[in-house]
Amino acid sequence: MQLIKTTLAMALAMAVCGPASAAKAAKSKYDGVEIKVLTDRTSDGLLQPLFEAFERETGIEIEAVFLDEGLVARLESRPTEADVVITKDAELIELAKRKGLLAKLESAPIEKAVPAPFRDKDGEYFVDAYRARGIIVSKDRVKPGAIQNYEDLTKPEWKGKVCTRSGKHDYNIAVFDQMLKAWGDEKGRQVISGIGKNLARAPEGDDREQAKAIMEGVCDVALLNSYYYPKMFEHKSQARWGQATRYIFPNQSSDGAFIMRSAVALTKATENRGAARVFAEYIASEKVQKMIVERTKQYSVLPSVAPHPSMVQMGADQGIKNGRFKINFVSLEGMADKRQEAIKFVEEIKYDNGPSH
Ligand SMILES: [Fe+2]
Repeated sequence: MQLIKTTLAMALAMAVCGPASAAKAAKSKYDGVEIKVLTDRTSDGLLQPLFEAFERETGIEIEAVFLDEGLVARLESRPTEADVVITKDAELIELAKRKGLLAKLESAPIEKAVPAPFRDKDGEYFVDAYRARGIIVSKDRVKPGAIQNYEDLTKPEWKGKVCTRSGKHDYNIAVFDQMLKAWGDEKGRQVISGIGKNLARAPEGDDREQAKAIMEGVCDVALLNSYYYPKMFEHKSQARWGQATRYIFPNQSSDGAFIMRSAVALTKATENRGAARVFAEYIASEKVQKMIVERTKQYSVLPSVAPHPSMVQMGADQGIKNGRFKINFVSLEGMADKRQEAIKFVEEIKYDNGPSH
């Protein structure tokens, strides 16, 4: 009797749970797998909704670690704690590659979708989005056309009128090492120290706070990543900073503007290569690329995905068509080669001491 009861209970349990779980079809080959993502991008706006959409569609769960800085050091010290790395500064992923921390992506969809200049030549990472590192000027105090190029920031007329965030910040190091690589050491150094000599104050704050300084009359010119310009108008407190300034895509009649790139890679230590690759491919998909443009106002690497309307509008003032500004394309290898030199030079000229140096 006892046996019959148990069997009956089991049958009942199966009737309740069995068909229900059998009906829940796997959403993908890797449904139920968990992957770890290490990133130095912010969690708000893009990544959280992207992770959620990916989990809903594939059943692959994402556990994310968000860092402000120290991405490569973290990956080096705890290599098994990440399957995928996403960075706001692709130069760092090139450094991680050089330390042997990455694996080959081996993805036909990514190779097909992402143009070659935005893929690592050895197939270890790809750039998923980029933005210009451009210039903002005071609407009131800088005449249209007076500043068009990075080189203009070094002119004597702008002495004491330039603001930037710290010269050691990754965004400035990335633009300085591109100057050294693209223009050669002599001109590159001249422009970097020329900007340093024209600083209005010792560098402080982030990119957007330089726009605030322009509004306050502290300076007339600053460096600003392109997406920050429309973003300022989204915040009540910052809209005035944006309104006080005009955005300029630099060097459009010469060699083009330097860009900042975001990038994605699989780690060498990953034991979830299949699921990690599915996630990387998801980021390169048209759907997610559109989401990146919409939410971050960066430029997609897919030629089929148009720039954000705010970028089109910003460029139109300068005669740039469809928002496609001219890029001075420096390879990430070239940037990484010059990185230490740029860091050393910024220290040497005491850039962060401001006008007193
Ligand atoms: Fe940023």
